[in-house]
Parts: sequence; C-alpha cells; structure tokens
Amino acid sequence: PLVSTGELVSGARAAGHGVAAFNVITLEHAEAVALGAERTGAPAILQISENAVKFHGGRLSAIAAATAAVARASSAPLSLHLDHVTDVELLRAAHPEGFSSVMFDASKLSYGENVKATADAVRWGHERGIWVEAELGEVGGKEGEAPLDAHAPGVRTDPAEAAAYVAETGVDALAVAVGSSHAMTERTASLDHGLIAALATAVPVPLVLHGSSGVPDEEIRRAVASGIVKVNVGTALNTAFTGAVRAFLDAQPSAVDPRKYMAPAREAVAETVAHFQQFMA
Ligand code: G3H
Ligand code: ZN
Repeated sequence: PLVSTGELVSGARAAGHGVAAFNVITLEHAEAVALGAERTGAPAILQISENAVKFHGGRLSAIAAATAAVARASSAPLSLHLDHVTDVELLRAAHPEGFSSVMFDASKLSYGENVKATADAVRWGHERGIWVEAELGEVGGKEGEAPLDAHAPGVRTDPAEAAAYVAETGVDALAVAVGSSHAMTERTASLDHGLIAALATAVPVPLVLHGSSGVPDEEIRRAVASGIVKVNVGTALNTAFTGAVRAFLDAQPSAVDPRKYMAPAREAVAETVAHFQQFMA
C-alpha cells in the first residue's frame, strides 16, 4: 500500500531501525523497489529526484502517478518522496501528486539563506501535511557539480549548528554530511560514526544519510545503530540495472525488444533493494 514517509520514518526510529529510500528514475525502478520490499517484508521509500523529473521533460505527473500506482498495488508499505528539490515551483507541484514528503535542498546557500528558504518550505509543507527533510553541510557529488571531498572536515555537519538549524527551520528530518558522497560506484566511503552519534544526540529529528551507494554494508549497519534513520540509495540501483542490460546485450547483440533486457535489469535492481534492506535492522 501507499503509506506516508512520516509514518515509515517514525516507526523505524521508534524501533531503533532504519528505512531505506530508493531513487526511482523509470517505472521499472519503482517496480523493482516494490519487488525487493515484498521479498524482504521491509518498508521502503520511493523517491523521485528533481533531476529525474528533468529527465522526464520536467513533467512530474506521469512518473509520480506510475510510482504511486506501483506502491498502491504492492503488499509492502511504500511511500512517495520528492528528492533534492531546489525549485520552489516543483515543490509546490508535489502536493497534488501523492507525495507525503519532500527533501528541500538549500544546502548550496549560505547558512542564513538556507534557514530562510527552508523555513518557508517547511511552512508550506506543514500546511498540507507534508513531511519536510532538509540538508545542512554538503553531501558532495550531486549531478552537474564538481566532486567535493567528502572527507574534508569543513564540509561536515556541525552538531551545534545542526541543532540551531532544526529549531529555526522546523524540519522533520535532517540530511547530514558525515563522510558519504553522492554517485559513488565503489563502496569505499568511510563514515564518521562519532559525528553521527553526536548529531543524533544534538538534533531532535531523525537523521538522513545521502549517498549510501558508496558506503560499505557494515558501515551502513553501524550508521543505523548510531542514529541514521533514512538511508538514501540511488547509484547502486543504476549500477545493477545497467550492468544487467550490458550483460544481456553483450550476450545477445541482435536483441531488439526492450522487455528482453529490462526484465533482467529490473530483477537486478530488486535484488539490490533487498540487499540494502538487510542493514536497516
Ligand atoms: O538522495 C539520493 C541519495 O543521496 C542517493 O545517493 O546515488 O550516491 O546512492 P547515491
Ligand atoms: Zn542525496
């Protein structure tokens, strides 16, 4: 069924668990997340990023409706989240499309501008029952930007500043920079578990780990134990998807029916979803 992100995150946090959020680009990604979640029996968040909306010509409705329909038809509890929104117009479009949550990303702005823009987004969301996540400190490696050294202490989230930020903005969850970076294709990130624990103590709302594709399995398990609740995974799904397509087409170069290579791609994504879900408890 389609449930709300707020209830999935609150439920996971109360149980001392994490909940994985998977990026959806195509219908097959959404189907694969549902399949993986049905296999493990664990809930999942289906997240569509602003960049994915741009891929679909800027039209949110079609991919959102398809993803919500997959969630409604599934036996697993699945929610719909709009990810890394920088455009306020897109934020406003989320409301009629079945999204119960958004991540508003003002992390590029100065602290003061980030607070102001995020507080506005939170006010807008809360008037509509929408759960709002925001980011403080910068998790590097976002599309279209120069790689940022995730290991440099300057870009990490400071606990005292994070506590003030949450109080000033009223956000429901906080994405933190603790050593992960977006779009990593090797799982070599090393997280600062002491910082995660300090942030979990300082900040009253659940913490979100972005760029989890580059984080080794045991590091994810430890991060959840130290206070990360929402675990965002995107690139690992695409590595699985594209690897399966490539293997199929290498073996059968004359194939033309997309169903022939999309079926193994969807299955590879479902297996990857189930793999990450193992580390949520
Ligand atoms: O918001 C999305 C995630 O942070 C995904 O990051 O593609 O590096 O796993 P990733
Ligand atoms: Zn992210």
